Amino acid sequence: MPTTLLQSDLPGLELIHRGKVRDVYALPGERLLIVATDRLSAFDVVLPDPIPGKGEMLTQISNFWFGKTAHIVPNHLLDVPLAEVLPPGTDLKLYEKRAVVARRLKPVPVEAIARGYLIGSGWKDYQATGALCGIRLPAGLRQAEQLPEPIFTPSTKAAVGDHDENVSFDAVVDAVGLELASQVRDATLAIYRWAAAYAAERGIIIADTKFEFGTDADGRLYVMDEMLTPDSSRFWPADQYRVGISPPSYDKQFVRDYLETLDWNKRAPGPHIPAGVIAGTAAKYAEALQRLAGIRLD
Ligand SMILES: Nc1ncnc2c1ncn2[C@@H]1O[C@H](COP(=O)(O)OP(=O)(O)OP(=O)(O)O)[C@@H](O)[C@H]1O
Ligand SMILES: [Mg+2]
Repeated sequence: MPTTLLQSDLPGLELIHRGKVRDVYALPGERLLIVATDRLSAFDVVLPDPIPGKGEMLTQISNFWFGKTAHIVPNHLLDVPLAEVLPPGTDLKLYEKRAVVARRLKPVPVEAIARGYLIGSGWKDYQATGALCGIRLPAGLRQAEQLPEPIFTPSTKAAVGDHDENVSFDAVVDAVGLELASQVRDATLAIYRWAAAYAAERGIIIADTKFEFGTDADGRLYVMDEMLTPDSSRFWPADQYRVGISPPSYDKQFVRDYLETLDWNKRAPGPHIPAGVIAGTAAKYAEALQRLAGIRLD
C-alpha cells in the first residue's frame, strides 16, 4: 500500500523550504533532506487533497533516471541511508520511498527545458512568432509535431503565483555567464536525447521536460530537484500520438481537464477534487512509473 503524506513533520530538523510538492530540510555537511509529499499543484496552485503515493512515485521515477543518466551528468543524490538522518522515532515507512539525501547546491536560476515536440507554451509562442526562445523554426509546423532536432528552451523561474516565461539563450547568458549557460544547455540536451531514446523503446514519447541544475562550492554542475517525472515532463503514449492534436499524456492533464469543467479562477485556494479524479490521477503516475522504470509500488 502506498503511504499518504500531505505535509511532512520532522521535529528537530530545520525546514528551509516548503515548495508546491517538496519539503526541504537542511542537514549538516551541506546536505539536504528532500521529502516529496503527495501534494498536487495545478495551474501553480496547490490543491487541498493529496494524491496517495504520488510523492513516492515521483521520487522513485526521479531516482531511476538519476541512476540511469549519471554517466552523462552528475546528480545531487548522496548515498546516505535515511535512517541515519531522520529524527529518532520517525515512521521510516512513511518516508523511505519519498525522501532523499542530496548535496545542497546553489540553484542555477533558470528552468532548463528541452523540447523535442511543439506543444504547450512552445506551440503558443511558435504560432505567435514563428520562433521559440529566439530560435527560429521551420514554417508550417503543426501542433505536437516533432522538431527537426531537440531544442533548449529555457524559462525564468517565476515568483510564487506567477507563470514561468520563456526566454532566449542570450538572456540565460546575461544571467549566469556564457560558460555556465552553455554547460546547462548542453547537459539539458544530452540528458533529454538519452532519455527520449530510452523511453521510445518503451512506447513513450517524452515531448518535453524541465531540469533544474545547481553548482557546488567548486562550481561543478549537477542536475538536482526531480528528473523526468510526469510533473516535470510531458509523456505521451506513442500509440496515441497524432500530429495536429494534443495527445493524451501521463501528466496532470487528467486533473486539469476536470478543473476546466469548474467555474474556478485558477487562484488559491484550489477546489477539492472528487475521489474518482484522485484515483485516476494516482493510476496515471503508477502507470508512468511502471512503463518507464519497470517499478510497481505495492
Ligand atoms: N540539491 C538541491 N540543492 C538546492 N536546492 C534544491 C536541490 N534540489 C531541489 N532543490 C530545490 O528544492 C525545491 C523543491 O521544492 P518543490 O519542487 O516543491 O518547489 P517548487 O514549488 O517547484 O519550487 P519553488 O517553491 O521553489 O518555486 C525547489 O525550490 C528546488 O529548486
Ligand atoms: Mg519543483
